[in-house]
Amino acid sequence: MRERKGIILAGGFGSRLHPLTKVTSKQLLPIFNKPMIYYPLSNLIMSGIREILIISTPKHLEHYKNLLGNGKNFGIQIKYKIQEYPNGIAEGLILAEKFLKGKNLCLILGDNIFFGKGIENLFTSASKSPDQFIFVKEVRNPNKYGVLKTKRNKLIKIIEKPKKFVSKYAVTGIYFFNNTVINYAKKLKPSHRNELEITDLNNLLIKKDELKIMKLNKFQNWHDAGSHEDYLNTCINIFKYETKYKTLVGSIEYECYKQQILSRKQIVNNSYKNNYYFDSLLSKLNENL
Ligand code: DAU
Repeated sequence: MRERKGIILAGGFGSRLHPLTKVTSKQLLPIFNKPMIYYPLSNLIMSGIREILIISTPKHLEHYKNLLGNGKNFGIQIKYKIQEYPNGIAEGLILAEKFLKGKNLCLILGDNIFFGKGIENLFTSASKSPDQFIFVKEVRNPNKYGVLKTKRNKLIKIIEKPKKFVSKYAVTGIYFFNNTVINYAKKLKPSHRNELEITDLNNLLIKKDELKIMKLNKFQNWHDAGSHEDYLNTCINIFKYETKYKTLVGSIEYECYKQQILSRKQIVNNSYKNNYYFDSLLSKLNENL
């Protein structure tokens, strides 16, 4: 039995992406040639995680079930849970309590996309470690995110969407936590925007000296596809990266193949043929023939 389980948060109103999200869930929108949720799901699989909970709204959860099923086609296990109202990212941890059965976890936001050189190593090491990790990245517009505040190279706290400049380091949406965070999450008070904030939880861990911070370098790409401009940039960058390096990013099938959970034959038998995605997948699988 593997130690860490995965949680993908794929709920919320997606209000910043309206009208694109008027009738569908943000994390089902296409990012170039795949639905957005493929990317965080692939990140969990590359981290060695095989049991995954997808949390979404009452309106959209069925769509995720139709898309991904119980995970059997991918050789993994997928379970589902409704979040009745977007009460905050940290509520996702409380909702996952039963699913986790005391196991440690990796929570990833459904609109966060990670790819590039070294990502797999970083996430696999974090996943195997008994410690708790978050990942930060130097960005040009930090005030859209949770931001690291440091003093003489020592981390003091994270400030959520600061009004003034704090630092260039944005907190990304992947969190490797121990099961103990569930109890911390239960003690959080709703913020001024009435949410159980992941930043409040991280600050609690920082205070207790229980959180390690890792920096992503310039080759380790991170996108939060939550606004129109970021969404478009994410699509463009994935397209450029895949074509430049003749690779596939965020392909569940290819990730499962690399992890030796699925064989070429299983993938070919289970796939819809005659489309660009399948052709790209096939050419990657054929590289090793
Ligand atoms: O992307 C990284 C940032 O994500 C961090 O830097 C911030 O610290 C963190 O608070 C979060 O900020 P956002 O403003 O991007 O969070 P947002 O409300 O957009 O939610 C992120 C994802 O989680 C999105 O896919 C929707 C989903 N979500 C969100 C909430 C609040 C849920 O499924 N349920 C929820 O209750």
